[in-house]
Amino acid sequence: MTTPLPNAVPADSSDVGRDATSGTAATERAGTPAAEHASEGPESLIRARGLTKRFGAFTAVDAIDFDVAPGESFGFLGPNGAGKTSTMRMIGCVSPITAGELSVLGLNPASDGARIKAHIGVVPQQDTLDMELTVRENLIIYGRYFDLSRREAGRKADELLEFVQLSDRARDQVEPLSGGMKRRLTIARSLVNEPDLLLLDEPTTGLDPQARHLLWDRLYRLKQRGVTLVLTTHYMDEAEQLCDRLVIMDKARIVAEGSPHELIERYSSREVLELRFPVGILETLHAELDGLADRIERLPDRVLLYTDDGEAAAAAAHSRGLRPETVLVRRSSLEDVFLRLTGRTLIE
Ligand SMILES: Nc1ncnc2c1ncn2[C@@H]1O[C@H](COP(=O)(O)OP(=O)(O)OP(=O)(O)O)[C@@H](O)[C@H]1O
Ligand SMILES: [Mg+2]
Repeated sequence: MTTPLPNAVPADSSDVGRDATSGTAATERAGTPAAEHASEGPESLIRARGLTKRFGAFTAVDAIDFDVAPGESFGFLGPNGAGKTSTMRMIGCVSPITAGELSVLGLNPASDGARIKAHIGVVPQQDTLDMELTVRENLIIYGRYFDLSRREAGRKADELLEFVQLSDRARDQVEPLSGGMKRRLTIARSLVNEPDLLLLDEPTTGLDPQARHLLWDRLYRLKQRGVTLVLTTHYMDEAEQLCDRLVIMDKARIVAEGSPHELIERYSSREVLELRFPVGILETLHAELDGLADRIERLPDRVLLYTDDGEAAAAAAHSRGLRPETVLVRRSSLEDVFLRLTGRTLIE
């Protein structure tokens, strides 16, 4: 084999990270571009101002502003269709911006796409593995694309398969792997070029709890090595575990920004009382719930009462004659923030 197979590098526009025009990326293996501007002071690794993406008359991303600092782990949370993937694809230089400003690693995606791609790793929302190759070959071909020698690519492939615990499947075809295994292979593939910035679009969707914890551990290690992480997720525990800072997107806009802790403090109460009633009862309760909490959120199967003292609210509910099937007092979480800001639960 003399040249890397182009079909190993996803050329279709559904991939966040790379397209057919990015072949020159492989030759760019010098220092991080942003580092070259270090004398200008601390610089955002990603900077967006008024960033907009339109598809015809439809606006998928509507003038959003955000900054990601080097070494930070930054998340986009939002319901289906909020514009997360559209934003990730602009950062990954596969989808041109419609308006506003965007810089990635101190470079302009419109003119320096190939250079940026050489330094980033991408886990697109949909896996784009080559089904005709083995697990190990998928990584080797990708490494060759980044100009690694066959030997280096093989060594890297083995190291990364170990990293995502797929070594025992190295010689198997990709097609019959489980969904979670394919996801882990895609994650391994995103690390072939030792990226400074990793873009992960719903990295753990479809992973079992054990694989998910493994991945969290691996991402944490990468972060400790100084890799900047930008991820989208629908899992609030993942966001709380992984993100130093996050933005909540809804209907193409950013509706809140902060650390998980800050967001909970700002948008929720200290505690939440969850009451679950037998089918049909909740709809009949109105006055009985009034004034029990600072804010009340009705879900199809239960009601959430936001208050600083959940036990006191539970006692008050009881004294009003309410007899829920289950009563749970818990601390507020990002899910509550999300619900308040978007009117939806994270996983519907
Ligand atoms: N290529 C496209 N052409 C037209 N509309 C598009 C295109 N890509 C995305 N959209 C639209 O833009 C909106 C935002 O989509 P996007 O994929 O960015 O959402 P998301 O936040 O990633 O959602 P999810 O959580 O479901 O992945 C949606 O209404 C989608 O239909
Ligand atoms: Mg998406």
